Amino acid sequence: PTTPLARVTIVGSGYVGLNTGAVLAYLGHPVVMVDRDAERVAALQAGEAVIYEQGLSELLAQTHAQLSFTTQVQEAVAGAQVVIIAVGTPATASGDADTRAVEQAAQEIAGGLQEGQRCVVVVKSTVPIGTNRRVSSVIDRVLQRRQVRAQVHYASNPEFLREGMALRDTLYPDRVVIGSDDPEALTTLRQLYQPILEQTFAPPAGLERPEHKPLPALMSTDATSAEMVKYASNAFLAVKISFINEVALLCEKVGADVSEVARGMGMDIRIGAGFLQAGVGWGGSCFPKDVLALQAVAAEYGYSLPIVQAADMVNRRQRVHMVERLQDVLKVLRGRQVAVLGLTFKPGTNDLRESPGLELAQLLLRRGAHVRAHDPVALDAARTLYPDLEIDWAASAEEALRGADAALLTTAWPEYLHLDWAVLTRLMRTRVVLDGRNALPGDLLRQDGVTYMGVGR
Ligand code: UGA
Repeated sequence: PTTPLARVTIVGSGYVGLNTGAVLAYLGHPVVMVDRDAERVAALQAGEAVIYEQGLSELLAQTHAQLSFTTQVQEAVAGAQVVIIAVGTPATASGDADTRAVEQAAQEIAGGLQEGQRCVVVVKSTVPIGTNRRVSSVIDRVLQRRQVRAQVHYASNPEFLREGMALRDTLYPDRVVIGSDDPEALTTLRQLYQPILEQTFAPPAGLERPEHKPLPALMSTDATSAEMVKYASNAFLAVKISFINEVALLCEKVGADVSEVARGMGMDIRIGAGFLQAGVGWGGSCFPKDVLALQAVAAEYGYSLPIVQAADMVNRRQRVHMVERLQDVLKVLRGRQVAVLGLTFKPGTNDLRESPGLELAQLLLRRGAHVRAHDPVALDAARTLYPDLEIDWAASAEEALRGADAALLTTAWPEYLHLDWAVLTRLMRTRVVLDGRNALPGDLLRQDGVTYMGVGR
């Protein structure tokens, strides 16, 4: 049974904030969600999930008695036992993370704390090294200026949730990392996460507990190390994918199958089977941004990260390789029609940030090809976001394939995997399929006369 906290306030109702808020409310804590975007807050109040995440609208509906939404940070902070900062930290042009929203949140939180209030301020946003220190100094300074005595404790608490799996990853994490040298902060956060740490809650419908999953580890450490855990984890995962992509291209040359190679490697528990799927390379709102931000941190210290840098380079090369693979088969790309299937950076999300599909479409356009693109969820968003791209937006996969010289699968949406490719490829001018996710039944298609190519096989 959960001992609910007095109030948990979450500043930032974006991806991380909203999923965290819904889960904490589900666990029984009263949660106030804050966002400066009044339209977003109004939509949330009206029961709209505002982001696309499996199970979120159901969980928000189920927890609405425990959850409220506001634009007013100061009011939301007054009386809160825990305040979580979950605002965005987008990359600036130079690659540094832009922490202005974190800074502003700290100012506003300090403005709302009351005389005598005991509160733990938690930084959940992915932030450059030293930001936790900065947040505490900003808050302490404002409190001093206001002559308000509040007992504020600080902790860094990075999150590791994946888009599309956000609620599952929050309910059933591998680990909870808390960076703080303040015992009070640690005790309160242990109480906040107790149902997760001990798995004492009844799983929400549709979000059942994975079988054989061990209890999450609680890792407590100092704030700077916690900040580093987050960046180093994402950089490592990006390196892992780039590594297998690098091996994949060698597999193509020597005639090995990278899926088999990854399977064999993954059986070594020191390596692990996850994140060894070769393909068009990584994208999304986290890896590209965090890989740059970590390098920017290193540069501040006159240091460099050649392995992380190489992961980035390999990722770019991977995209170019896809286009060259098509060129090898079609010989001339100019004037060819290519169907690009999948614009989100992975299935299960509507996120178009750093989308491999859109990047590949642009590379193809630059080489003079015509691109017909489709996505099962993000087509309209892509069209609106990129009105200047000369892409034909196809209303269906079938429409994209009709008359095409080649098809390029960029996102492994189940909708695509379930298509009858043997039949649909007959609508194409030439039956050339480049499966950028190694997700289609290549052997069957080859038997049927399709020129099928995977990545690294
Ligand atoms: C990633 C991390 O996995 C999360 O742990 C982390 O919390 C999150 O970033 C974040 O920093 O907020 P996410 O960006 O949602 O999560 O997506 P992933 O599932 O990690 O996929 C990232 C990219 O790598 C995708 O483009 C995906 O297609 C690609 N990928 C992934 C591969 O090409 N091969 C793989 O084996 C795995």
